[in-house]
Amino acid sequence: MSHNLDRAALAEDQRRLRRMLDRTVGRVVREQAGAIPLVGQAEVSILDVACGACDEAETLSDFFRSLRGGEGAEGASPSTVLVGTDVRERELDEARARFGNAGGRSFEFFKGDASKLDSHRELRAAFDVLVFRHQNLYHGRALWMRIFEQSLHRLKDDGVLVLTSYFDREHELALQAFRSLGAEVVITERNAESRELATPGKSVDRHVAVLRKGGFGKI
Ligand SMILES: C[S@@+](CC[C@H](N)C(=O)[O-])C[C@H]1O[C@@H](n2cnc3c(N)ncnc32)[C@H](O)[C@@H]1O
Repeated sequence: MSHNLDRAALAEDQRRLRRMLDRTVGRVVREQAGAIPLVGQAEVSILDVACGACDEAETLSDFFRSLRGGEGAEGASPSTVLVGTDVRERELDEARARFGNAGGRSFEFFKGDASKLDSHRELRAAFDVLVFRHQNLYHGRALWMRIFEQSLHRLKDDGVLVLTSYFDREHELALQAFRSLGAEVVITERNAESRELATPGKSVDRHVAVLRKGGFGKI
């Protein structure tokens, strides 16, 4: 999705994404630190579903490496394993060329239909973090319901789900979909820093939500 984008705009999007993660996921971690086992673990695993060229790979990894349990907490940064999956080989090749394993971060990208994640045996059973950046419910609700459902099977019971959307209504529909699958919305925010795109009502990371599986979501 990024290959034609101006690099400076892309870099600025990533800085904004990082601030948005600090405000939202960071807040959940500060307020629920005891109930989020990924904080304080030696390794944090992240599954980025429908990642495209995965512009967000390093931002996500660096953000989760920065979590050490809240204000003033000590300890070494965890390592991160980010697995990105998409149906588009060209975008995945671009991601493979851009992101190498170094500095406590590792990246893997594989081609696969996320509506059939249950049959992807090469994936680890469950991840600490599930990410949908610019989920695409508008491209087919039945397909994306299956993607959401199968992805939730790959999230640890006490893990964290991060979802962003381009459009207001698409975001609402995605939250409804996840609620119907038993997830709880912990935080949802309209991102004031979102970059407007040419299509009216569409902007980069326009909304972000943090969800957890039912029973782990209250703050
Ligand atoms: C709006 S793009 C978001 C890409 C990336 N996360 C971003 O923010 O730039 C939606 C992505 O969903 C992917 N996609 C569509 N159907 C899919 C499926 N069944 N399984 C996996 N990925 C799929 C598309 O190839 C596309 O890369």
